Amino acid sequence: MIHARGLARTFEGRGRGRKDEVKAVAGVDIDVETGEIVGFLGPNGAGKTTTLRMLTTLLKPTAGTATVAGFDVATQSKEVRKSIGYVSQSGSTSPEARAGEEIMDHGMLYGISRRQAESRGRELFGQLDLEGLWERKPQAMSGGQRRRLDIAMGLVHDPQLVFLDEPTTGLDPQARANLWTHISELRDTRGATVFLTTHYLDEADALCDRILVIDHGSIVASDTPDALKRQVAGDLVELVVADAAQAAAAAELLGRVADAELAAEGATVSARVRGAGHEIAGLIRGLDAAGIALESIEVRRPTLDDVFLDLTGRSLREDA
Ligand SMILES: Nc1ncnc2c1ncn2[C@@H]1O[C@H](COP(=O)(O)OP(=O)(O)OP(=O)(O)O)[C@@H](O)[C@H]1O
Ligand SMILES: [Mg+2]
Repeated sequence: MIHARGLARTFEGRGRGRKDEVKAVAGVDIDVETGEIVGFLGPNGAGKTTTLRMLTTLLKPTAGTATVAGFDVATQSKEVRKSIGYVSQSGSTSPEARAGEEIMDHGMLYGISRRQAESRGRELFGQLDLEGLWERKPQAMSGGQRRRLDIAMGLVHDPQLVFLDEPTTGLDPQARANLWTHISELRDTRGATVFLTTHYLDEADALCDRILVIDHGSIVASDTPDALKRQVAGDLVELVVADAAQAAAAAELLGRVADAELAAEGATVSARVRGAGHEIAGLIRGLDAAGIALESIEVRRPTLDDVFLDLTGRSLREDA
């Protein structure tokens, strides 16, 4: 559904007397198959929006090629635009028009009839918890309502391929969860393909079949959430014992099964252990035999944030 090769975009900054270049996207390859939900993750300024704008024909690439829904973004922009829905990061509703009219206009712009636009628009208002706001102007809506209206606008013409740029930013937890359900349903019931950006790792983890991580304009990872999590060196095992002396002995035992990051602080000992599930029983027996009383033990599966930290040296949350 999406195939990009060496797609790149450089911006020329016009500083006084000197020219500086920003390599916003440095030549990325992207493949998204029909029916996939793919998450595009990366910190602020990584190049997510720039990539999306090139794929949706709103911005010309400085190098590389891309086909979207079978059409070339450079030479067949009209066909590409007809085949997709796009919800931009900043939204696209005009504050003055009434929400219902706006969504119908938007549908008709894409070639569906007024009646179709109204019925699909009202259906989306229901699904996205916008009931009662059909006659309301966006300027009189809350931020989260406006965001959901943006999303409804991007979906009104039932596109087979949807680009969503940070769709859930600014939504409360309930609205986020509701939107996740809605996005999954788009795929499950309508066979739609979804390409979305997000800063939320839990979101990508819960929603996406595959994740692309971009940093400094280059793709640094592409895999399923589970496979990415397996890449980090194991589960985090944390033991709390009675005191520092016991901690030293516990660290010695944990060190035998640890793969990385063995650390002791006060009465707490932690390490990354690959396949911790298989090692825990033996570890506990060993602690028992050594007379070390365990206050608590915690095993945490690696999160996408761990993956991100591993890949980029930064935490995603630091930027969010
Ligand atoms: N029109 C522009 N002119 C100059 N530089 C730009 C322009 N648009 C984007 N950039 C720069 O390109 C880089 C990538 O920006 P982009 O908007 O793609 O990031 P992003 O990954 O979407 O970030 P965010 O998470 O903040 O939305 C940034 O350094 C940004 O300042
Ligand atoms: Mg962006």
